[in-house]
Amino acid sequence: MEFPQKFLWGAASSAYQVEGNNLHSDWWDWEKRIGLKEVSGEACRHYQLYKQDFIQAKELGHNAHRLSIEWGRVEPLEGDFSDKEIAHYLDVVLTLKELGIEPIVTLHHFTNPWWLAELGGWQNRKAIDYFLRYTEKIVSGLCEHVRFWVTINEPMVYIYFSYILGDWPPQKKSFFCAKSVFDNLVKAHLGAYRLIHRIYAEKTKNRPLVSLAKNLQAFVRWGDSLSNRCAVYLRNTFFNFKIIERLKRSNALDFIGINYYTRMLVDAKSWGLRSLLLDTHEGKDSGVKKNSLGWDIYPQGLYDLLLSLKRFKLPLMILENGICTADDNLRWDFIRQHLKKLHLAMDAGVDILGYIYWSLLDNYEWDKGFAPRFGLIEVDYKTYTRRIRESAKKFAQVCKSGKLLDA
Ligand code: FCB
Repeated sequence: MEFPQKFLWGAASSAYQVEGNNLHSDWWDWEKRIGLKEVSGEACRHYQLYKQDFIQAKELGHNAHRLSIEWGRVEPLEGDFSDKEIAHYLDVVLTLKELGIEPIVTLHHFTNPWWLAELGGWQNRKAIDYFLRYTEKIVSGLCEHVRFWVTINEPMVYIYFSYILGDWPPQKKSFFCAKSVFDNLVKAHLGAYRLIHRIYAEKTKNRPLVSLAKNLQAFVRWGDSLSNRCAVYLRNTFFNFKIIERLKRSNALDFIGINYYTRMLVDAKSWGLRSLLLDTHEGKDSGVKKNSLGWDIYPQGLYDLLLSLKRFKLPLMILENGICTADDNLRWDFIRQHLKKLHLAMDAGVDILGYIYWSLLDNYEWDKGFAPRFGLIEVDYKTYTRRIRESAKKFAQVCKSGKLLDA
């Protein structure tokens, strides 16, 4: 299976999960306050080791890398930006460019500066202006070197864990709060989209490509009841497509960034809204292999979703797809199966710009701690040494040749 010449190949990370010591982010205190078993601490020490990490990415044939900027680092106090940290991220981006790796930069990946959390976080409308001020600072500093921007990572996942399930800070459980956060995140994206384009236009730079990273789930019925049909429809509408439709209507997407991991087996137990939106089939008998967090491996879902996005008439890019597992053969099989589906979708006319694996390194998987191993590169958390996995070498052959041979 052959991929286009200019296809982007690489891996992703997010600042909080790899850098370590993000003292000014809302998660930092929260982890300790609620007594998480594992706190992020030094994470992978990527803040110190990014050069060697990117050299390894280069050796693995990557020509793109997705990273995020830690807002709390560059603006540790409201309105008080740190030149030192901005210079750090400039160096991160320049290091990638020197290696011939295209940076794809995310502005918001789940964490907020602690001071924003104190002001009510994304429930506060002012978060939009704060976000735009931060965006202006970062984009003006990096626009010479960056073509791809991702405003917000997985807004629906953020809302789901932080404002509906109440697992992540600020641990709300309210559809009402969720709705206002949704509206504010949409406005933040719309504002950032226009701002980024304005900055590039003023500096007469080539138009950048701006999107968000949308987590898509394959919703599959567990039993063919009417309530399950209805539940699948509602979840596709609200979780998968609503925000894309909203942003497309405002012409505020240059491509669609997709994070895809798994399917959800939908099993609505009643006609209540909570049931229709949240009930799943609980059980181990889903009939497919799982990752170490118990998520179903379901490559067909990627194909189905890619085809259903064709109607938006925008290029797509896989910004995250990956597996946590102790079985590295399963990791390669996961990558291979998903690349096959990607290629089939391209054959069916879907325009795809690249494939970015989650993640370059093992890292801090939020409230699940360090146990889930998503990395192409293994991290020893005692010594911070890295070891390239066999799956990474197999993926490297694809990145280097643009061909998937053992399809
Ligand atoms: C995604 C997140 C990413 C990572 C992977 C496993 O939802 O964007 O930070 O946690 O899941």
